[in-house]
Amino acid sequence: MPKDTLTITDNRTGKTYEVPIENGCIRTPDLRQIKTGSDDFGLMGYDPAFLNTANCKSAITFIDGDKGILEYRGYPIEQLAEKSNFLEVAYLLLKGELPTEKELEVFTNLVTHHTYVHENVKSFMDGFRYDAHPMSMLGSTVAALSGFYPDAKNIRDERSREIQITRLIAKMPTIAAFSYRHTMGLPYVYPSNELSYVANFLTMMKHIGGAYKVHPVLEKALDVLFILHADHEQNCSTTSVRTVGSSQVDPYSAVAAGVGALYGPLHGGANEAVLRMLRDIGHVSKIPEFIKQVKGGEGEKKLMGFGHRVYKSYDPRAKVIKRVADEVFEVTGKNPLLDIALELERIALEDEYFVKRKLYPNVDFYSGLIYEAMGFQAEMFPVLFAIPRTVGWCAQWEEMVTDNEQKIARPRQIYTGATRRDYVAREKRTGGQK
Ligand code: ACO
Repeated sequence: MPKDTLTITDNRTGKTYEVPIENGCIRTPDLRQIKTGSDDFGLMGYDPAFLNTANCKSAITFIDGDKGILEYRGYPIEQLAEKSNFLEVAYLLLKGELPTEKELEVFTNLVTHHTYVHENVKSFMDGFRYDAHPMSMLGSTVAALSGFYPDAKNIRDERSREIQITRLIAKMPTIAAFSYRHTMGLPYVYPSNELSYVANFLTMMKHIGGAYKVHPVLEKALDVLFILHADHEQNCSTTSVRTVGSSQVDPYSAVAAGVGALYGPLHGGANEAVLRMLRDIGHVSKIPEFIKQVKGGEGEKKLMGFGHRVYKSYDPRAKVIKRVADEVFEVTGKNPLLDIALELERIALEDEYFVKRKLYPNVDFYSGLIYEAMGFQAEMFPVLFAIPRTVGWCAQWEEMVTDNEQKIARPRQIYTGATRRDYVAREKRTGGQK
């Protein structure tokens, strides 16, 4: 009977060690027993950017990057996108099971009735410059919520956690819409309890004078996009939420860290970057030259919206998004950049550089085109990502807080700096000391 263990021989000492394997992992702290002498700290793992290190056990989202599979609590993303709706998926991610009719009604009602923000939040947002990026407004305002809800510090109280999670999911669209209205110099539109989660958000964004009615196709499209973005296991922003949350700070502060991480162009900012890239390319005829620059640029210039740390085949979300794009363009008219995107994808998928590196379109490649066709400015794209991802952040935060194996996150380092030396008086320094 083969054993679930790993035998390691340390060639420095000739000693052999046996460490258990569980879930296809060894526990790296088990390596600490491997020492060259009594003053040796013990062997560590070196893994910048966590390429091969599991940071937690999680029962929320499953990804098989080679096969292009994404499941929330076991349900394939394609089925959820087709048959479910965003708040039902939110319930599933948070509670682990699909809700009954009654449970969904209660949850929807709860979220719908927590959409207002304190009036002082509004004045706080007024303090931003007219040209502040809505994503920086969103992150700062979410962080500020911790000052409005001091009870959020009770992270050991299950009921308190539930209240804060409801508030976060409910208020995110309001803060997002207010950020946008602020940058446009438009008055804020207050939330409506009569509308769906998505229709309410779109109305707060777009309503100016007269009656505003959300087009049902666009409402459904955004709902699907929200489902696709709701969680994606241990990505950069989720890891930020878990890391900051591991200090036992309130969830608003932890989620604000997630917004910060998502703002970056390699993460949630990628859809904004895709649009800028397509605009820079400008015409289908310029694509070969652009591809040449990407391939020759030693990683400096990237084909934005391509590649993924986990997916080494087509991102399953990108497949669903392509279908949604067709439905949206039926209503809005085709985004003129679509032709460039389609041709770029076609060429890249045939090009040896991208094939060899297994670079396929990710969720961001087409989402920006849909958002733009729906009338959103590029600055709003990462915000449109942050709203649904709040659900994932909250589910992962809850899981982390209730996981007995978790402690405050505190990685090790390999020190490469100067060895011990004595302080040199300022007047005796010659500059450029090393
Ligand atoms: N265009 C051109 N080359 C690329 C791209 C790209 N988009 N992505 C990766 N590569 C190349 C790298 O230069 C590297 O080449 P090398 O082996 O010759 O050095 C190789 O492919 C492997 O790439 P890594 O950078 O090691 O992959 P990593 O897993 O670290 O990065 C990432 C993943 C950040 C998503 C990367 O593919 C990228 O920057 N893509 C563009 C930005 C983007 O679309 N981000 C959105 C991701 S999805 C999301 O966050 C929701």
